[in-house]
Amino acid sequence: MLRRLHSDQPNSFAFTPANQAWADAQIAKYPAGRQASAIIPLLWRAQEQHGWLTRAAIEHVASMLDMAYIRALEVATFYFMFQLQPVGSVAHFQICGTTPCMLCGSEELIKVCREKIAKQPHKLSADGKFSWEEVECLGACSNAPMAQIGKDYYEDLDAESFAKLIDDMAAGKVPTPGSQKGRFASEPLGGATTLKDYTGQTQNGSVALATGIGDTLKRIDGTEVPLVAPWRDHPRADGQPMGGDVAEMTKPADPEAAPKAKGDSATLRVKQEIATPAPKAKIVEPAPEIAEEMPEMLAEARGTPDDLKKIKGVGPKLEGVLNELGVWHFWQIARWTEAEIAWVDTRLKFKGRIERDEWIAQAKILAEGGETEFSKRS
Ligand code: FES
Repeated sequence: MLRRLHSDQPNSFAFTPANQAWADAQIAKYPAGRQASAIIPLLWRAQEQHGWLTRAAIEHVASMLDMAYIRALEVATFYFMFQLQPVGSVAHFQICGTTPCMLCGSEELIKVCREKIAKQPHKLSADGKFSWEEVECLGACSNAPMAQIGKDYYEDLDAESFAKLIDDMAAGKVPTPGSQKGRFASEPLGGATTLKDYTGQTQNGSVALATGIGDTLKRIDGTEVPLVAPWRDHPRADGQPMGGDVAEMTKPADPEAAPKAKGDSATLRVKQEIATPAPKAKIVEPAPEIAEEMPEMLAEARGTPDDLKKIKGVGPKLEGVLNELGVWHFWQIARWTEAEIAWVDTRLKFKGRIERDEWIAQAKILAEGGETEFSKRS
């Protein structure tokens, strides 16, 4: 199948603030110069937020990861999990058509899709609420046939239960994912014959997580679950906080400096990075004009953090970067020397901003409880 960008594209894309914070946390998992490793989770979150991947979203993610647009486009067009055209506003059904599901009746599900949604895959239903496609095995063969909607699996379907699922969704109901025949997991349909301790539980872990959100069909805006990023508390080998060094993360890395992950599991790799600080990347840098010196950084705010956005030139994103570096208070900024400004400057995306916007002078006024023209308006 030819996978290319849709002809009708919106002009722009931006993550919601909570999704942006989530995306920043994912990038922080990877060592300097390897932030492109976050491409798939970020594209997936963009799709979860918008429903499908627009060109603007792909380019936005590429910019965040300092990747050439074409490289992000290669990823988005390669994986079928990424939808490159508008999908139903309520649900896009991915029906598994591989042998186990086919033997258990997936062709009947596809027939329901053709009747109730659209004759052809990837076309919207008349009301724009639904779309569908046939996909390869989704790994739930023991509960075949099944359909995936976003992150959730609906298993043990038949034509009747699947048609009802669509009708319920069209009526604004939110059906519970998981087995539609009451199975806890993949035990025999007649009930568990071993591991009977689990008998009586009505939802397995993934279904419970899905329903915990309260609306398994909603577009993900990042507020569904609290953001947890424990890896950020582990310093890197070079003493920098994980993910705090955005400027360094965007520099090209020496391929030889890439960490050698043992095993092929992404989970294992992440665990290893948490347990063992990433090796320092060998980055060839031009000699700095001013000797840099790391200013006083705090692992956490002393009491209530100051609203650094009161400083002209500091927006929500930059405030997050400063917090990650260990800057929480106006008094910290007010004390920066020229060498310390140079140190911070190289770690921000916008070099020269500190001096251009006179952060030090502003911070001095704000640290003493005064107001600047900008902070009065903000
Ligand atoms: S064959 Fe359908 S999930 Fe594996």
